[in-house]
Amino acid sequence: MMSSRTCGSVFLVTFCCLLLHSADSRTDPSEVNALREIKRSLVDPMGNLSNWKKGDPCKSNWTGIICFDSSHDDGHLHVRELQLMRLNLTGELAPEVGQLLLLEILNVMWNKLTGRIPLEIGRISSLKLLLLNGNQFAGSLPPELGNLGNLNRLQVDENNITGSVPPAFGNLRSIKHLHFNNNTISGEIPVELSKLPKLAHLILDNNNLTGTLPVELARLPSLTILQLDNNNFDGSEIPEAYGTFSRLVKLSLRNCGLQGSIPDLSRIENLSYLDLSWNNLTGTIPESKLSDNMTTIELSYNNLTGSIPQSFSELGSLQLLSLENNSLSGSVPAEMWENKSFENRKLQVDLRNNNFSDTTGNLITPDNVTLYLRGNPICKSASIPIVKQLFEDICGEKKQTSTNSSTPCSNVSCPYENVKVSPGICLCTAPLSIDYRLKSPSFFFFTPFIKNQFMEYITTSLQLETHQLAIDRLVDENKLRLRMYLKLIPKDKPKFNISEVIRIRDRFMSWSFGGNDFFGPYELLEFPLEGPYALTPKSGLSTVVWAMIVAGSIVAATAISVSVTLLYVRKRRENSHILTRKRFFRTIFREMEGVKKFSFVELSDATNGFDSSTMIGRGSYGKVYKGILPDKTEVAIKRGEETSLQSEKEFLNEIDLLSRLHHRNLVTLLGYSSDIGEQMLVYEYMPNGNVRDWLSANATDTLSFSMRSLVALGSAKGILYLHTEANPPVIHRDIKTSNILLDCQLHAKVADFGLSRLAPAFGDVEGEPAHVSTVVKGTPGYLDPEYFMTQQLTVKSDVYSFGVVLLELLTGMHPFFEGTHIIREVRMAHECGTVLSLADSRMGQCSSDKVKMLAELALWCCEDRPEMRPSMSKVVKDLESICQSVRETKMFSETTTLLCTKTSSSSSSVFSPLVLLPGSNLDSSFSKL
Ligand SMILES: *[C@@H]1O[C@H](CO)[C@@H](O)[C@H](O)[C@H]1NC(C)=O
Ligand SMILES: *[C@@H]1O[C@H](CO)[C@@H](O)[C@H](O)[C@H]1NC(C)=O
Ligand SMILES: *[C@@H]1O[C@H](CO)[C@@H](O)[C@H](O)[C@H]1NC(C)=O
Ligand SMILES: *[C@@H]1O[C@H](CO)[C@@H](O)[C@H](O)[C@H]1NC(C)=O
Ligand SMILES: *[C@@H]1O[C@H](CO)[C@@H](O)[C@H](O)[C@H]1NC(C)=O
Ligand SMILES: *[C@@H]1O[C@H](CO)[C@@H](O)[C@H](O)[C@H]1NC(C)=O
Repeated sequence: MMSSRTCGSVFLVTFCCLLLHSADSRTDPSEVNALREIKRSLVDPMGNLSNWKKGDPCKSNWTGIICFDSSHDDGHLHVRELQLMRLNLTGELAPEVGQLLLLEILNVMWNKLTGRIPLEIGRISSLKLLLLNGNQFAGSLPPELGNLGNLNRLQVDENNITGSVPPAFGNLRSIKHLHFNNNTISGEIPVELSKLPKLAHLILDNNNLTGTLPVELARLPSLTILQLDNNNFDGSEIPEAYGTFSRLVKLSLRNCGLQGSIPDLSRIENLSYLDLSWNNLTGTIPESKLSDNMTTIELSYNNLTGSIPQSFSELGSLQLLSLENNSLSGSVPAEMWENKSFENRKLQVDLRNNNFSDTTGNLITPDNVTLYLRGNPICKSASIPIVKQLFEDICGEKKQTSTNSSTPCSNVSCPYENVKVSPGICLCTAPLSIDYRLKSPSFFFFTPFIKNQFMEYITTSLQLETHQLAIDRLVDENKLRLRMYLKLIPKDKPKFNISEVIRIRDRFMSWSFGGNDFFGPYELLEFPLEGPYALTPKSGLSTVVWAMIVAGSIVAATAISVSVTLLYVRKRRENSHILTRKRFFRTIFREMEGVKKFSFVELSDATNGFDSSTMIGRGSYGKVYKGILPDKTEVAIKRGEETSLQSEKEFLNEIDLLSRLHHRNLVTLLGYSSDIGEQMLVYEYMPNGNVRDWLSANATDTLSFSMRSLVALGSAKGILYLHTEANPPVIHRDIKTSNILLDCQLHAKVADFGLSRLAPAFGDVEGEPAHVSTVVKGTPGYLDPEYFMTQQLTVKSDVYSFGVVLLELLTGMHPFFEGTHIIREVRMAHECGTVLSLADSRMGQCSSDKVKMLAELALWCCEDRPEMRPSMSKVVKDLESICQSVRETKMFSETTTLLCTKTSSSSSSVFSPLVLLPGSNLDSSFSKL
C-alpha cells in the first residue's frame, strides 16, 4: 500500500516536471551517436525502429527511447530507458550502448539478438534493470557487469550463454534478482554470490553447472528462492547448513546429481516448496516437522529408505507429497486425509514403487485427495479394499489429471471481446490482455483458493478491484512455470482510458510490484497494445504519453518490493497465536468465487434509484428489484429491510456460504453490497418468475404435466445438492413454490437461501440424523410439524416442504384452501382412490399412472414422522423414473421427451430451440401432439 501511494506521488511530481521541460535542450550528442550505432547493428525486419532517424531522440519520440524530463547539469537531455521488448529484432547489441551513461532500464527481452553481451554495459553505473532474457546471446557473462552497484534485476534467462558465473557478480550489492536459467552456463556457483545482501531470487536451473553447492549460500540474508534444477553437481551433497536459510520459501534442486542425505529443513520458517527429486539421495527423511506453509514435497526418484515421517500428516497446506521410486517402507499414513477438510485444498500423494506393505487407516480418500500406490506390496496384500474400481484407482496406472475445461463464452456479437469473468458470466468488454508467466511459484496445484489469493495479489498491486481480473488460457509448463493470460477488465465501462492503460503497463514493465515470495517472480511475455488499445508511437502516441508511460518506472529502480507475503509474515509474527495463514487470507480475500461486491450507487443506478416500477417481488428478507447493470446484465436485487439486517459479520458469513453453492438448479448469487448500512444480495435474474405464479388461477399460461415433472425434478436436484454436496451441508428451511424460479428455458432453480443454516452432520448412530435447535422459521403451510413441535431441524424438514410443493404442482392448489390443507385433501382422495379428480385440469391429457406415482411420492414426503419420509436422493430417483416413463409411454412429442431426459445433462444448449417465454401457450406446445 505504502509503495503504491509513494508511486502515485512520484508519478504526479514527474508529470509536473514534464511541463517544465526545457524546450531548447537537446540529447547528449554521445548518446545520439550511441543510439545510431545501436540501430545500425540491429536488424529490424518489421521497421519498428524506422522513426530512429529524424530529429532528436528525446524530443521526437523515437520508439522505445525514454529520457529524463529535464536537462541535466550539463545542459543536455539524457536517455533514461531503452524499452525494446518483443520487436522482432535480430542482429547484435552494439557496444556503444555503454555510452548511455545515465540509463536506468535496458530492456531487449524476447527478440532474437545474437552475439555477446557487451561488456561496456558494465560502465552504466546507474543501471537498475538489465533485461536480456529470451534472445540468443552467446559467449559468457561479462565480469564487468559486476560493477553495476545499482542493479536490482539481471535477467539473462533463455539465451545461449556459456562459460561460468563471474565471481565479480559478488559485487552487485543492490541485486535482488539473478535469473540465468535455460542457458549453458558451466563451472561452479561462485561463493562470492553469498555476499549479496539483498539477493532474493537465485534462479540458475537448466544450465550445465558443476562442482559443489556452496555452503556459504545459506548465509544469504534475503534469499527466498533457490532454484538450481537440471544441473550436474555430480556427487555433491546438500550442505547441512541449508537448514539454516532464514528467509527461504522455495528450494528446488531437481535432477542435480546430488548424493547424501536430506538435511533437516524444519527450522526454515516459511519454506513452502521443496523439490529434491531425481537425485541419488539416500538415508531417511528427517522426522522433524517442516513449516506449516509447505505445499510441495517432491522427493521422487531417489534412494530414500525408512518410513514417511509422522509430521507430514500435520502439514495443513500440503498439495503434493511425491515419494515415488524410492525404497521407503512401513505404513501408508492415512492420517494425511482422515478427519481433514479438503474444501480449499487438493492433495496428491504419490507413493508408487516403494515397499509400503500396510496402512494406518482408510485408503478410501476424500474428494480432492488422490493416492497412488502401484508397485508396492500393499497392492498385492488383502488389506486393500476389494472394490474393483477403488483398487484400480489406487493401485492402477496413474490417471491423467484432467483439467476441467470451462465452457467458453458464447459467440454473442460484441464489438470488443466476450470475456468470461467468472463461472457462467461473460462480459462484452475490451480487456487488456497480458501474456504472463509465473517463473517459480511455490504451489503445486493452482486451486481456486490459491487462484483467489493470486487474483487479490495482482489486483491489489495494480490498484484494481478483484473482479477486474480474469485469467485465461492457463498452461502449466512442466509443473515448473505457470503461463496465463491476464485479462484486465475496465470497470463500469467497455474500455480503459489511455492514462489507465499507461499506468497499468508501466507497473508491469517496471516490475514495481514484483515481490511476492509465494507466487515468485513473474515474466512479462507480452503486453500488446493492439485492437482498441493500438497506441504505439507509430500511431501517434505523443511524447507526453510516452513519458507518462514510464513516469512510474523510476520507482521501479528505487522500489522496495513490498509483498503480500512479507506483510502477512509480519502480521503473523505479531499475532502468531491468533491468525493462522488461512484465516488471514480468508479475512482479506472475502470476495469468493465470482461473487462481486457492488457499491450502493451501482445498484441504485441499476434500478433507477430503486424505483417502484423495478420492484418485482417481496420476500421475508425484503423487497426484490429487477436491475440492469451497465453491461446490460439483468439481475435480481434483494434489498434487506431494516428488520432483517444482520450484523456485517453475519452478512459476510452468509455471502461466504452462498458463494460456495453452485448448481444448475440453484439461483446463482452474483454479488452483494453492504455499503452505507444497507445489505443487498444480487442474484441472476429469472425471467420466468416463480412457480407459484404459474400455478395461480389467473395465470395466462400454465405448465403441462411433463413440464411440472421436470420442474419437480430440477428443484429436487437443487435441494439434494444442498443436502449432500454442499460443504458444509445446507438445510434450506423455506422450500415453497414461490421460491422455485424458472429461467428463460423454464429450468427450475431453487432460490432464497436467506434462512439457510448449515445442516448438521449426520450423527454417530446409524441413520439417526443429528439436528440443530433453533427458532422456528419458514412459511406456514410448508412447515414440518415435527420441526414445529420440537424445533429440531433436519434435512427431512425440507423433504416435507418439498412434498407440499409436489402436491401444489399436481393440483394447482394453494397449500391452505377453504379451511383445509392440501396434504389432507390429497391423502383422503388417495385413500378413496379418487386422486385423479384432484389433478389440475389445466395440465391437459396425462397418464393416470404418472399422476398417481407423483401423488404417492408427495404424500410419502409429507409423512408426519421424519424417519418415515424418503431422503432427497430417493425423491430425485423417483422423479427421474416418472420423467423417464413419460417418455416410455410416448404420450408426448419427441421434443418433450428430449427435454425430459436431458434434464440431468449439464449441457443446456440442447434446449435452445425450445425457449418458451410467457405468452407462448405451453399446453399447446407440449400436450397436443
Ligand atoms: C511523435 O511521432 C509521431 C509519429 O511518429 C508524430 O506524428 C508526432 O508528431 C511526434 N510527436 C512529437 C511531439 O514529436
Ligand atoms: C513480430 O513478428 C510477428 C510474426 O512475423 C508479427 O505477427 C508481429 O506483429 C511482429 N511484432 C512486431 C512488434 O513487429
Ligand atoms: C541458441 O540455442 C538454441 C537452442 O538451444 C539453438 O536453436 C540456436 O541455434 C542457438 N543460437 C545460436 C546463435 O547459437
Ligand atoms: C528450459 O529448459 C527446460 C529443459 O530443457 C525446458 O523444459 C523448458 O521448457 C525451458 N524453458 C523454460 C522457460 O523453462
Ligand atoms: C556440460 O559440461 C560437460 C563437462 O562438464 C560437457 O561434457 C558437456 O558437453 C556440457 N554440456 C553442454 C550442453 O554444454
Ligand atoms: C545414481 O547413482 C548410480 C550409481 O551409484 C548411478 O548409476 C546413477 O547414474 C546415479 N543417478 C543419478 C541421477 O545421478
